[in-house]
Formats: sequence, C-alpha cells, structure tokens
Amino acid sequence: MFATKIEEVVGDFVTLRRQGQSFVGVCPFHNDKNPSLHVTPRLGIYKCFVCDAKGNAVHFLMEHAKMSYPEALEYLAKKYNITVEYDRPETQEEKELRSERDSLFIVNGFAEKYFMDQLRNGDEGKMMGLNYFKERGFKDATLDKFHLGYCPGGWDTFTQEALKRGYKEEYLLKLGLTKKSEKGKLYDFYRGRVIFPIHNTVGKVIGFGGRILKKDEKVAKYFNSPENEIYHKSDTLYDLYLAKKAIRQMDNVYLVEGYTDVISMFESGVENVVASSGTSLTDGQVKLLYSLTKNITVLYDGDAAGIKASLRGIDMLLEKGMNVRVCLLPDGEDPDSFAKKHRDSELQEYLSQNTTDFILFKVQILLEEAGNDPLKRANVVNNILDSIAKIQDNIVQSFYIKECARLFELPEVTLGSKIRSILWKASNDRRRNESVPAPEPTPLQEVQIREQRQAEQQLRPQANLRREAEKELIVMLYKYGLYEIAVEADNENGYAKQRVDEFVFNDLYNDGIAIQDPILHKLFENYAERAAVLQDPITLQRTLVYSEDQDEYSFAIENLEGESYPYSPNWEKRFDMYTHFAENSIQNLQQVVQDTLLSLKLRILEERIMFLRNELKQKDYSDDDQIMILAHINLLVKCRKSVSERLNRVVSR
Ligand code: CTP
Ligand code: MN
Repeated sequence: MFATKIEEVVGDFVTLRRQGQSFVGVCPFHNDKNPSLHVTPRLGIYKCFVCDAKGNAVHFLMEHAKMSYPEALEYLAKKYNITVEYDRPETQEEKELRSERDSLFIVNGFAEKYFMDQLRNGDEGKMMGLNYFKERGFKDATLDKFHLGYCPGGWDTFTQEALKRGYKEEYLLKLGLTKKSEKGKLYDFYRGRVIFPIHNTVGKVIGFGGRILKKDEKVAKYFNSPENEIYHKSDTLYDLYLAKKAIRQMDNVYLVEGYTDVISMFESGVENVVASSGTSLTDGQVKLLYSLTKNITVLYDGDAAGIKASLRGIDMLLEKGMNVRVCLLPDGEDPDSFAKKHRDSELQEYLSQNTTDFILFKVQILLEEAGNDPLKRANVVNNILDSIAKIQDNIVQSFYIKECARLFELPEVTLGSKIRSILWKASNDRRRNESVPAPEPTPLQEVQIREQRQAEQQLRPQANLRREAEKELIVMLYKYGLYEIAVEADNENGYAKQRVDEFVFNDLYNDGIAIQDPILHKLFENYAERAAVLQDPITLQRTLVYSEDQDEYSFAIENLEGESYPYSPNWEKRFDMYTHFAENSIQNLQQVVQDTLLSLKLRILEERIMFLRNELKQKDYSDDDQIMILAHINLLVKCRKSVSERLNRVVSR
C-alpha cells in the first residue's frame, strides 16, 4: 500500500484543495457544500468531520466507487504499476459477491469488445453501423474514444458467440444483453442497433444504450440496459468517466440529454459534458457531480414546454448548493445538431454568450407567460422567491434579491422579508420532520433583520425583552448545557438525571418554541452540533471565543467570562451536579434552567397577548371573531399569570 498516494486516489473522484499539510474537499459521502473532507497524505487517510467517513485508499474506493476489495486493489495496482498484495484474505461473502459482480463486468466487457469489433471489422457492421456513424459525422477517433459498436441484425448472433465462449446464459439475461422469447428462444436485445457503452466512474462497462438505425414509430429509438447489480441508472451519468478531468479543470459541467449530445460536444472540443440520459437529474447523479464542481450549466433545446417542465427539477440543484446556469439553444436544435452545424469556435462562442443565470432565465420565461395579468405576475414573484430561497450561497442569494427587486420594481426589503419567512417556515417544517438545522440567514438578510429589529424595538419594547430571554437561554446552554440536572421520572426515586441541553431542547420542542433572533438562532444550532462532539464546557465556550464568525466572537466577548472560566473539567466528579453549584450566583442549576425557560415563555406569551390586543384595536373584526379573540387573550393571560407565579415575579400589565 505504501506506493499509493491517498490524495491522488481521492483526487480521482473529488476536487481537492491544499490546506497546509493536508487537502480538503467536499465530502462525497453525505450532502454537503463545505469542504469537510480532510485528506492527510502523512497518514495515508481521509476523514470527514461531518459524517465521520474515514479510511485509507482502499476503503475510499470500496465506499465511494463501490468497488469490491479486489477491484480496489486492482485499481491501485494499475494506477501505480505495482503488483497486488492482499493484506488480508477475502471473506467468503466478499468472494461470492465478487464472483457475481466480476462475472457481470467480465460479460459486459466481452460484449463491448464484440460490438466494437463488429463495427470495425464485420461486414454488416461496417456497412450498417459504421456508415450510420459516418453519416452523423462522427470521427474514427471518437468511435474509439467512446467505444462505440454495432450489434448484428441476426436473431441471436451475439448470444450464440457468447455462449460458445462459455459466458453463462444467466449473466447474459441479467445484463439485458440477451432476452428470452415466450417460447424459450434466446435472442439479441440490441440486434441491428449501434451501441453506446455506458461506463462507471472508473471506466468499467456497466451497461449499454442501443440506437435503432432507421426511424421507426413503433419501436423505441433507444434500448437501454435494465437495472442490475452493476447498473443503476439513477447513479450514472454518461460519460462521466471521460468528462471527469475536464469538469475538474473547467470547474463547470454542461448537462445535456443524450448520448449523441455528449459525443458531438466532445468532438467540438467541449469535454466537460455529461448526459442524464433523457430524465431529470436524480440526487445520486448530483452527488457524483458536486464532488467535482459546484457549477452546472444546463443546455436546453429551444422547446418551451420542455423548459417549463424542467424548472422545478432545477430548483433541486439550487437546494443542493449547485450554482446553476442555463444556455438555450436556437429553436429546433439540440447540442448534437448545433455542434455539428457550427465550427468549434462558434460553439464555444455561442455557449459563452448565451449562458445566463438560471433565476433570471426563469423570471424571463415566467413573465413572458404571465403577460400583463397582475395576479399571474404576482405568482411569478412568489415562484421566483421560492427558488431564491433555495440558493445555498448567501452572497449569491442577496445578489438575486437585489436583482429581482429591480426586475419586479418592488422594494428590496419586501422581497427580503418574504424570503425570510419562506426560510423560517421551511426550517420549522424540516425541524418538525427530521430535526435538521435551519439555514443561516444571508449577510444581507442579517442586515435587513437588524434594521427591521431596530424599527420594531422602537415600536414594541417587548421584542427586545424576548431577545434578552433568548440570549439568556443560549448563554446558559454554553455554560451549563453539558451538566446534568434532576428531572421528574416514573421510577422509585421520582427523578432521573438528564443533561441540561437535552432537557432544554425537549422543552422548547414540546412547546413549539423557536429561537427567533437570527444570530441567536445560529448560535443555538451551532451549539447542538458542537455539543454532540465536545465533552466539556470550556472547550465548548472556546469554540465561540476563537470562532471566525464575527457574531459568535462578539457573543462570547459580551456574554461569557473570557478565560477565567469558573469551572474545572473535573467538576462533575467532584460535585453532585444537580443539587449545588459553587458559583456565587448559582446555587441550584435545576432552578436556573427552569427559570431561564420560563422567562422566555413569559416573553412569548406577552408578545402574543400584545399582538392580539393590537389586532383588536386596528382591524374591524366581526362580533363573533372579537369574542373568540378575547377568549384567547384571556387564556393567554391566565398562562402568563401561572408562569410568572412560578417565576416568583410580579408582572405588571
Ligand atoms: N432515450 C432513451 N430511450 C428513448 C429515447 C431517448 O433512453 N426511446 C434517452 C437516451 O439516453 C437519449 C436521451 O434519452 O440519448 C435523449 O433522447 P433524444 O434527444 O430523443 O435522443 P438523442 O440523444 O438526441 O439521440 P439521436 O440524436 O440519436 O436522435
Ligand atoms: Mn439528437
């Protein structure tokens, strides 16, 4: 193993950037947009700090490229010109899996060679297949590069040859190369078709597309391999294996629909191109791409219905953190036909001049459709804001808010606050469903939020109070979140120990309370992430003091006691945590936790009461509605009373 360079092996699949002694890249094992994957040549390992994927070069190939153990060794052996040394025996299970997968690869490999040979040397192949490709204008070098082939038109020419050479019927059928008629006769699936082999990311044949030569309305233009152990359509892009290098170099990928689009663009010198094979992109396909680049340019043929149908799919790309651009081809052209009709330089020029930003493209399409109908135009605004809300890069997002404010002639603040409400809603929905952290507000949003907050504070002093209560809660978490308190329980003691942060999270969740202030919200989310891995309060607080994030740093300076942390890491061992605290102001942690939560709830109740009273004052509700609102206010007032009694405080108002 010593000959292998981990950064080169991982670098075959993930774009890596040097960082001191190591390399970093976007981890391909989980959905991410940040470079969490660290590759350390000195240790020969990779490690992801988010999803915890880790291992050496062999592990990487097995986990990411889905190779078997021997395949991984073989890959390294080939890459480094070394002889394979097995550093452990294969398990029985691995052997069986390998023999099955290996066999499928071997049979596909045979078929690919056979079809290639038929195209180049067979009489029928030359006459039908080669002529077909020549007519389409494909060069010889291209046929070789893409391993294009031809399957003879006889009933079972290929199948008979394969069987004669000892390839098992079972595998031929599984791979879809051979089919069985109702009468039990075997026949060639691709007979009389030109063949486009499909490769995985390391260049092995996993499947085939076969194109009919003549137009025929009754038969599908393309036949494709069925799903099997080695071919998963939704995790495959044609032909990523060949395009990989150029995608990384150009830091952009062109997405087209079909095999011939990819091939013609290659011929014209554009090699950073892959095809989704006629369907909209899947999660698995995006995953393959975003370890290589975050920039994707979707090439469209000029067909309006198709474009509209695909808009939604593109929102998904935004959500995954891709930067999406689009390029619309002239009416009736697809990338293949366009590339064929124009010189290489003309294609390049067209691409660079007609590639536009996705959001602005979408605005244009939808506005054209909406015409002058004001209601439809309003829908367009909402639709676009939904897309903008999905953009992961904060700076880019704020750019769009500006741009759309201009296009729609609406105030930027209006759009900004709409986006915020979409984001909060989405993040709340998600938290309810799967408890994932909310997206951070963009810098622009933060500025706007601060502005809005200031304005609000002048109007409503209690907004300030709520934020104060939220702040107290976060401070408490960073200070004491890792300690334990006694909570009520159904056991003989009547109580059990629970970590403070766990208790707080549950309590907020149960009452449907979210931290509203965006900066505090961020700190809250970050706390949860860090508390999962950091085991003592000092380290936890230091993450704030040494944070690169200005908000976190300021928060720490304002609210934590700097380096003179009053607690020792051994604290828990020396004291019974849930009863007494040595710090002057804190005698009972349990009480502090309760009080902090109750104070926040009190503020929230006050906010709601205030809001409803204002409503009654400002709007003309029907008598019935008024009665209901008043009843609700009454209820809230009662709650407030009981909360404040528990807090032992007298509340005015
Ligand atoms: N496709 C398919 N089955 C079909 C039609 C299309 O699998 N019956 C897939 C193929 O992967 C094809 C892609 O969808 O490459 C795009 O379809 P289309 O644009 O119709 O084909 P082209 O790639 O343009 O092929 P050609 O130029 O040879 O007509
Ligand atoms: Mn075409």
